[in-house]
Amino acid sequence: MVWQRRHILGLRDFTPPEYELVLRTTHTFQGVLARQNRKVPTLQGKTVVNLFFESSTRTRSSFEMAAKGLSADVLNFSPSTSSLTKGETILDTARTYCAMGVAILIVRHREPGVPHLIARDVDAWGVRVFNAGDGQHEHPTQGLLDLYTLCHSLDPDQPRPQLLRGKKVVIVGDVLHSRVARSNLWALQHCGAEVHLAGPPTLVPKLFRELGATVHHQLAPALEGAHFVMALRIQQERIDQQLIPTLREYHQLYGLNHERLKACAPGVKLLHPGPTNRDVEITSELMDDPQLSLIDRQVTTGLASRMALLYLLGGGKP
Ligand code: CP
Repeated sequence: MVWQRRHILGLRDFTPPEYELVLRTTHTFQGVLARQNRKVPTLQGKTVVNLFFESSTRTRSSFEMAAKGLSADVLNFSPSTSSLTKGETILDTARTYCAMGVAILIVRHREPGVPHLIARDVDAWGVRVFNAGDGQHEHPTQGLLDLYTLCHSLDPDQPRPQLLRGKKVVIVGDVLHSRVARSNLWALQHCGAEVHLAGPPTLVPKLFRELGATVHHQLAPALEGAHFVMALRIQQERIDQQLIPTLREYHQLYGLNHERLKACAPGVKLLHPGPTNRDVEITSELMDDPQLSLIDRQVTTGLASRMALLYLLGGGKP
């Protein structure tokens, strides 16, 4: 297949051949990262801007490392020291970078739709845009790195989307406010997995059934026979909104631990996009258990996956 997409803004409209190509290209970059010389020249002479209006550790750093691995120059925008503080708009900020001749903008914002708005505005400049997380809407590069992580755990030699057909994947926690949950929901369903969502009714409303998922408000039936369990961060600010009574109560009802995972399928694997609240959504022992936890692997894969996506958007040949 020939890569056509100019921007990566969400996974809702991703197609099976696109998932296949992204996974294959990520696998190639895993190989590149295992070499002594981890650099390729694809983006030499091009500039990538990390346009993050919201904080990040993993996404921002791995995009920076990935762009540098493709030999790009990288600029890290800082909202608090920028002309945004003097009243400049977000679109004018993006246009300013376009006028400087940058090639790719990586955008994170707490409002849904900001990367889409920027993409529409800068398209005429030939600038490519990644959505690095927009509010509660989507986090497509996290969804794609999670997809690779899952498929790689099933077949390390040939990770491919077809491996997920019929697999039960349970996403536990604050689904309502999670852009990661939405991107994973699309990707997993497109690849034929059975998606189950679990958590209190305030964080996992029945409305999600309309997106094709099975909704559970009790953890035990959700975990039964699961092949993969993905925990989501409990956003502590939600306690003030009375969406959950206390973190301790949440942990008692929905916290993941070794005992609870015994109901899952043999060989179950655990994921978490990070950042985690240890001993809230997941016990420390489980998080650090190398037999069960893929959490560090997700971070490692993030680099290869974002190199692959920058390569495809930057004009690299599949
Ligand atoms: N998973 C994720 O988006 O983490 P960061 O907020 O640290 O980028």
